Amino acid sequence: MLSEMKQQKASHDRSRPSSSGRGYGVRWQQYRKRFLQAHPLCVNFEDCRHRGAVVDHIKPYNQGGEFWDPGNHQAMCKSCHDRKTAREPGGFSRFHTNPHVDIKVALRKNHLPRKKSLMVLDCYHGEGAIWNQIKRSTEKTIQVVGIDKRQIAGELQLKGDNLKFIRGLHLGIYDVIDLDTYGVPYGALRAVLGNRTLKKGTAVFLTFILSIRGRLPPDMLSDLGYSRKMVRTCQALFSKNGFDKMKAFLAQCGVKKIAYINVNNKFYIHFKVE
Ligand SMILES: C[S@@+](CC[C@H](N)C(=O)[O-])C[C@H]1O[C@@H](n2cnc3c(N)ncnc32)[C@H](O)[C@@H]1O
Ligand SMILES: [Zn+2]
Repeated sequence: MLSEMKQQKASHDRSRPSSSGRGYGVRWQQYRKRFLQAHPLCVNFEDCRHRGAVVDHIKPYNQGGEFWDPGNHQAMCKSCHDRKTAREPGGFSRFHTNPHVDIKVALRKNHLPRKKSLMVLDCYHGEGAIWNQIKRSTEKTIQVVGIDKRQIAGELQLKGDNLKFIRGLHLGIYDVIDLDTYGVPYGALRAVLGNRTLKKGTAVFLTFILSIRGRLPPDMLSDLGYSRKMVRTCQALFSKNGFDKMKAFLAQCGVKKIAYINVNNKFYIHFKVE
């Protein structure tokens, strides 16, 4: 077994050019330096808070990506880059990690509706990491309709701003509505809860992450009764205890019972439509 692995590695090494042969010579080092000066932060900075250290090929060159095309380059810190390369070969895209995917998956699996087959409306679909992982690890039949403002891969997709869709969709056919984004998906949440076709018992999953400056969306504050003028002058003050305010908003919409996981002030929330 061991010798088989050694042989495989040796043949891999033979077929793999040296680092300068792969293009990482002096020219690349100079290019890398200039690129990182122009793009100092990791593409995933919002989550990892690291400076860029590596110029990554968005589509790996050994999978046909252009080696020298700046459009195929992005700055990444070492840890994000390591995670990305661990996922390759496979899908590639301008990289955004979905932080805490495992936690989000666990929360959803703990609160999946009992039915054998489920319809999911995934309002911030992205690469669909969460539901792909759930589908792989459950006996249930799960059909996901994804909305994303970016062009995305997959079967059933709606491209555009989710607000536009949520208002007009018949939500009664969905057993699960997923609102997983960076920040506070307040507009979309309000559109879901305000849609009259939403049925009782629908499971909603919601990610709630305050901005770096800890601000709640102004619309949310004004729905909670703070006047626009008050919000303009002291948004930070009124944003204190943001999560409690989210709970207050949900209670105002008739949602009294929620389950959530709090990791570093990121809240992963579940509730059932009452
Ligand atoms: C955190 S990612 C979602 C990850 C996804 N839940 C998963 O499991 O992989 C956020 C996605 O929401 C999309 N997005 C952000 N705002 C949007 C909006 N208003 N309407 C539709 N999509 C939006 C972004 O393009 C991005 O792909
Ligand atoms: Zn990073």
